Amino acid sequence: MRSNLAIGLRILFGRAPELLHTLPRDCYTRDIVSVPIGRRPVFIVNHPETIRRIVNEDREFYPKSDLMISTLMPLVGEGVLVSGGERWEHDRKMLEPAFMQMRLEALFPKMREAVDDWIRRLYTLPAETQIELESELSRVTADVMFRVLFSQPIDGEQASRVFHAFSSFQRRSPQFNLRVVLESDPSNPSPPSYDLLDDAMQIRGLIETLLDERLARLDQGEHFIDFAQAVIDARDTVDQPFTREQMIDQLAVFFLAGHETTASTLAWTFFLLSQQPQWLQRLRDELEQTLNQQAFAFADFRRLSVTRKILRESLRLYPPVAFLTRRALREDRFGKLKVPKDSFIVISPWLVHRHHAYWEHADRFDPSRFDEDAPASVAGSYLPFGLGPRACTGAMVAQLEATLILCEAYRRFDFMPVAPKAVQPVTRVSVRIEGGLPVILRTR
Ligand code: HEM
Repeated sequence: MRSNLAIGLRILFGRAPELLHTLPRDCYTRDIVSVPIGRRPVFIVNHPETIRRIVNEDREFYPKSDLMISTLMPLVGEGVLVSGGERWEHDRKMLEPAFMQMRLEALFPKMREAVDDWIRRLYTLPAETQIELESELSRVTADVMFRVLFSQPIDGEQASRVFHAFSSFQRRSPQFNLRVVLESDPSNPSPPSYDLLDDAMQIRGLIETLLDERLARLDQGEHFIDFAQAVIDARDTVDQPFTREQMIDQLAVFFLAGHETTASTLAWTFFLLSQQPQWLQRLRDELEQTLNQQAFAFADFRRLSVTRKILRESLRLYPPVAFLTRRALREDRFGKLKVPKDSFIVISPWLVHRHHAYWEHADRFDPSRFDEDAPASVAGSYLPFGLGPRACTGAMVAQLEATLILCEAYRRFDFMPVAPKAVQPVTRVSVRIEGGLPVILRTR
């Protein structure tokens, strides 16, 4: 463990405040790096045992970072992604039934409809056409999310507006700019920009309208099976539902947490497979043998072990949530390092997943590291969905959706990146490809 002044200087005065481009080699090889510069100390924690302590037994002293909360609050209010303490515990319990396997099975046909519509649209494009695959994937995952949230597609004019507001909201989120982090003051947070507030209001406005329409339709005796319904039906231990405002908060969380993350996973997986033809072939062989020309059904999800390993490896190398950020509510110690109160704590799946102490040939794409008989990874060194009680509630939804999309797309099309060497990661709310992923689409 050591403190690293050079990193701080580089961040404050360097040309690239973008986190992924700023982190020097040290961050990939050390347990804990402290950045003792600027208004507040920053600690980058790669040490699996310390990570596990922060997210498990000491989690009440490490709530979500103030910067994350102030950025996301205009959109998600006090939703479960940013809330803390008793409020979080209460809400998380209420939301748990929404993610039960039975419900996912019931939601699966809605995912299918969105993916089928997308595939049909790809067929209408001229042969050998160039498409921007990353934004295509953002659209289809947003469509899936809308259908599983509200049982309706995204192609309406309203939904399209929210899609654009969401992209712009992500671009304007400052929480992953370390320069902003180092200069932030937790006791006096800067207000979000007007543009960010405007984007957030547009998205919340649409969710509000859709929720009110739903409540009115329920009054007329209609029935629905989707996440909106699960949130409306949720009850706490004294049989109280969420208020209308709280329902909007939670639905905004699902939309925020659920669509760009899955789009990011998919874009990186398509890119990785374009560079790894032998794994692409193994994936296609598995699809052919397991599905035998039939449509992908819910029960097939568990049977596709090669596809699952490929996704796990893609999530290792390109975890969509590259940085989990926390605020130290009290003084602490990481080994010999003193951690002052209000320090900014960064747990980075991006760094831990590429750390040479925990992963053999860490930079190599090798899904066989997840073979059933391969040695297990170090506890706390694989966390694409977070860890501990605050881990992602939607992990299964995301993996089911990603498997469905990979499966249906690769059975029918080839996707050839136009400029694979130019592909660079960039952190938004999730890790995206700078400038997108232009590909030539070819029917098989
Ligand atoms: C590949 C896709 C996804 C990835 C990589 C991902 C990753 C994560 C991570 C890392 C966290 C924890 C953040 C932290 O500890 O600071 C999280 C939380 C969360 N995710 Fe996901 N997520 C994905 C998809 C989804 C989907 C599809 C949904 C909902 C439908 C969802 C809902 C949530 C919620 C509600 C939380 C907050 C949990 C809590 O604090 O109690 N996520 N996600």
